[in-house]
Amino acid sequence: MNDMLNTKPEFSLDEAGALLARHFGLKGTLAPLDSERDQNFKVTTDDGRIFILKIINAAEPAIESDFQTALLKHIGENAGDLPVPHLHPTLSAASLAETTSARGGVHRLRLVSWVPGVPLAQSDRSEAALESLGQMLGRFDASLRGFMHPGALRDLDWDIRKAGRSTDRLHHIADENDRALLGRFLVRFEKDVAPRFATLRASVIHNDANDWNVLVDPDNRDRISGIIDLGDALYAPVIAEVAIAAAYAGLDHPDPIGAAAAIARGFHGEYPLLEEEIDLLFDLIAMRLVTSVTISASRRTHTGDNPYLAISERPAWTLLRKLDAMQPRFATAILRHACGFEAVRGARAAGVWIEQNRKSLLPLLNRPVATYPADLVPYGDPAHPMTVNSAEARPHDAQFIWEEHCHSTGVELGIGPWGEARTVYSGEMFASRLIDGARRTRHLGLDLFMAAGTRLYTPLAATVVSVDVEQEPLGYGCLIALRHEPAGCPPFLTLWGHLAHGAIGRLKAGDRLEAGALVGEMGTAEENGGWAPHLHLQISTDTSLSATEILGVGEERYLDVWAELFPDPSLFAGMAGEFFTRSGRSHEEIVRLRKALLLPNLSISYDKPIKFVRGEGAWLIDDRGRAYLDCFNNVCHIGHAHPAVVEAMARQAATLNTNTRYLHDNIVAYAERLTATMPTELAVAGFVNSGSEANGVALRLMRAHTGRENAIVLDWAYHGTTQELIDISAYKFRRKGGIGQKPHVHVATVPDSYHAPADWPIEEHGKRFAESVADLIAALKAKGEAPGFFLAESIPSVAGQVFLPDGYLKEVYRMVREAGGVCIADEVQVGFGRVGSHWWAFETQGVVPDIVTMGKPIGNGHPLAAVVTTREIASSFNNGMEFFNTFGGNPVSCAVGLAVLDVIERQELRRNALEIGNYLIAAFRKMQMRYDVIGDVRGLGLFLGIELVSDRKTKAPATDIARAVSNGARQRGVLMGTEGPHDNVLKMRPPMIFSKRDADHLIAVLDETFMAVAAGGA
Ligand SMILES: Cc1ncc(COP(=O)(O)O)c(C=O)c1O
Repeated sequence: MNDMLNTKPEFSLDEAGALLARHFGLKGTLAPLDSERDQNFKVTTDDGRIFILKIINAAEPAIESDFQTALLKHIGENAGDLPVPHLHPTLSAASLAETTSARGGVHRLRLVSWVPGVPLAQSDRSEAALESLGQMLGRFDASLRGFMHPGALRDLDWDIRKAGRSTDRLHHIADENDRALLGRFLVRFEKDVAPRFATLRASVIHNDANDWNVLVDPDNRDRISGIIDLGDALYAPVIAEVAIAAAYAGLDHPDPIGAAAAIARGFHGEYPLLEEEIDLLFDLIAMRLVTSVTISASRRTHTGDNPYLAISERPAWTLLRKLDAMQPRFATAILRHACGFEAVRGARAAGVWIEQNRKSLLPLLNRPVATYPADLVPYGDPAHPMTVNSAEARPHDAQFIWEEHCHSTGVELGIGPWGEARTVYSGEMFASRLIDGARRTRHLGLDLFMAAGTRLYTPLAATVVSVDVEQEPLGYGCLIALRHEPAGCPPFLTLWGHLAHGAIGRLKAGDRLEAGALVGEMGTAEENGGWAPHLHLQISTDTSLSATEILGVGEERYLDVWAELFPDPSLFAGMAGEFFTRSGRSHEEIVRLRKALLLPNLSISYDKPIKFVRGEGAWLIDDRGRAYLDCFNNVCHIGHAHPAVVEAMARQAATLNTNTRYLHDNIVAYAERLTATMPTELAVAGFVNSGSEANGVALRLMRAHTGRENAIVLDWAYHGTTQELIDISAYKFRRKGGIGQKPHVHVATVPDSYHAPADWPIEEHGKRFAESVADLIAALKAKGEAPGFFLAESIPSVAGQVFLPDGYLKEVYRMVREAGGVCIADEVQVGFGRVGSHWWAFETQGVVPDIVTMGKPIGNGHPLAAVVTTREIASSFNNGMEFFNTFGGNPVSCAVGLAVLDVIERQELRRNALEIGNYLIAAFRKMQMRYDVIGDVRGLGLFLGIELVSDRKTKAPATDIARAVSNGARQRGVLMGTEGPHDNVLKMRPPMIFSKRDADHLIAVLDETFMAVAAGGA
């Protein structure tokens, strides 16, 4: 340096002007510029162009000025539009000229264009300006790809790879704490960074994008207008370019990582960075500062105490202290995210895996979390007394307020959502370490509030990582971290905070927990950090963080980063998204509009109606995100929204839908498949849109075949909504609004074995009940008439899930046929394998009907229905009148019908129905032993009934209890119905995909409900 000062050029303005004219042929005004070792002049030519004339120090090795020249030339040739100094050739078209001073020193001369702009140091460093800086550096470095020069390989202390030399300069730092601070970064550097240099991409880079070398457009301060001073250019890791710019941009910046992220994002857009480069960025930023403060300190030692140097170092020290206080992995996550990478490798994949596999996760609470009536805990409202009490460390008062709320509203589970803005975190520990003056306010876990002692189970197999106790007030209390490594998913952690201390002795690091195993219990305020009892559940996709490093609350500004590092665990916990995203009209408004706009006798289930917004498998989700196990709605035969059905429907709807007057494959394919499930006699199908229409067509077939009208039907039966069907449905014509029995309608006794006279031997029930039909036929005969048909459900459902006694239909069919009538089986509720043992419930009676009608489950919710009959009856129907049904049998409906049959067969759902049905019946029978009110349990497959009686001897109906049980089950999230003339039969028809887990849930809820009802509640 001192040598360099001796050889510094000292030309006068006139001499410099003469050199300009001689070598470059230019005339103009010269103004001297600062330079430590060279001489620089700002040249304004007479024609208004501006240049810099550089007269280079005589002692500068030629290789350096050659390198500079080659560098400028390369940029000029490859990126002429880049706003950096561009070479102006000498009169002899050379890049450099040469002159000898009066003292005999040989100086090289270079003329470069002037780059206009204001130094960034004198402008606000807006985020946009920093991103623009990154872009400019990216373009600069991209233009140097493939450029090399021996001068680029010089040895510089400012080379980031040489940052470890700072260790040798540490002794110049007087303060022990300061030395320790730098030592911590140096240790990280030697251990984690330096070994990786060998494999990093390297290139010639600017290497000194400090804010005096970066120019801003004065008319648009968000735009970088140029980069100057390529004097420190060097062959170095590409990422060092970003690190150096970020180190300077972070000085006195309230959010230095945000500043670095803006630069990285801009750079990445022009010159894509690699993940492994960004992963080193935090440390490289720090090391540029370490290099800077140690070089300054060593210079100070050499130059004596220079207060200017000390002042200029202050921002670097401040930034180093801030970086030292940060969790480097969080800073890196922010930098990665800014460049579009996952905040940590695998972060997004874990979220996707949880979303895709949520149905296989086991309940975190005793029952699936979504089944509890839940409400938000008011921590998002700073003025709410519960929040105030919590923040002021009065957990019992907070708990009391919450319990009162639960008591008055029926809520059982409190939810503190992920991402909620909370002011409850008031302590110093919640000050941001990333952003000056900011606080951490956004909740990064999910809180579940229930009573202390509530047991908590892991939804997924896990290994215990740690079991800690945090003592700080408003900390976690007992805290457990689990590691999950499901197949096909990057590992992730779950954090369970505020637990009872009982877990401490029971679990230790390394323990293996199977899915569904107990993790712990919610702790009391005394052991959970001083909160109303709740679980703080959090996911960390960064598995290298320890339980206490995981950030429970984060800065709002980086919520999108936290969302990847600590994703919302609500799906993992088993919540439905609808809890958080409520949509559509209120219940009250819908009820009002229904009243105003719809037929007033369109009924609504339950006094407090439910608004469902989504169905999924055996579950229905309401508009508040509560999940109900659907054990009633047998239309969703193979589960709500079955993807195979949805896909078949969508594919065909997107291709063609039209009526049956044109040829199409689907209708014949479906008729072939449907009739193949039936006895061979039943060979001809007709397609319609509802069970009522199917029964209507059945009656037309019957009339065409017999020419008769007389009906024999079972009491308390329902067959459809048209007037002619109401007329033959005793359940309708006998009850309120009905106009009584028409003369052609003859009603037989329901063959209900449970209510058979006690003196009938069980094996005679079929025959004895059939006598009721015999009597009706005899009465007709006496009048000189005969039955046209006998119509019955193969398992009378509305009559109370009545299973026909053995031999009943055989006997009745024989008599009806002898009298010239046809036999119609209504399989609208009971068909399609619901009974498990057979496709059709009539098969359990060993009969073959003449006509079978079907609907409800046939299309899994799509309006499709069918009637199937014999060739003989079909030909009677073919009497010249066209059979046309606009929608019946259309290509979309038939595609749906085919998909349903496929799924029943492929997923072996009949076998499932039988197995699960038997399991449920056995469990109900066990319950029957404990609850006297259960008079009879009956069922086959997944068609089930429990008859409730107030006296097992008299079998007097326990109608109120049946209603209370049905309502109680609904309260507990399970849907069932009541049926029978006295509404005392609990009716269950769960979907055919009902699993053992679903069955266990139903059993548990029913048991709990019976217990509550027995105790006088519901
Ligand atoms: C046994 C039975 N048959 C026929 C029907 C009429 O079917 P839909 O409502 O599709 O017209 C029903 C409807 O509940 C039914 O339960």
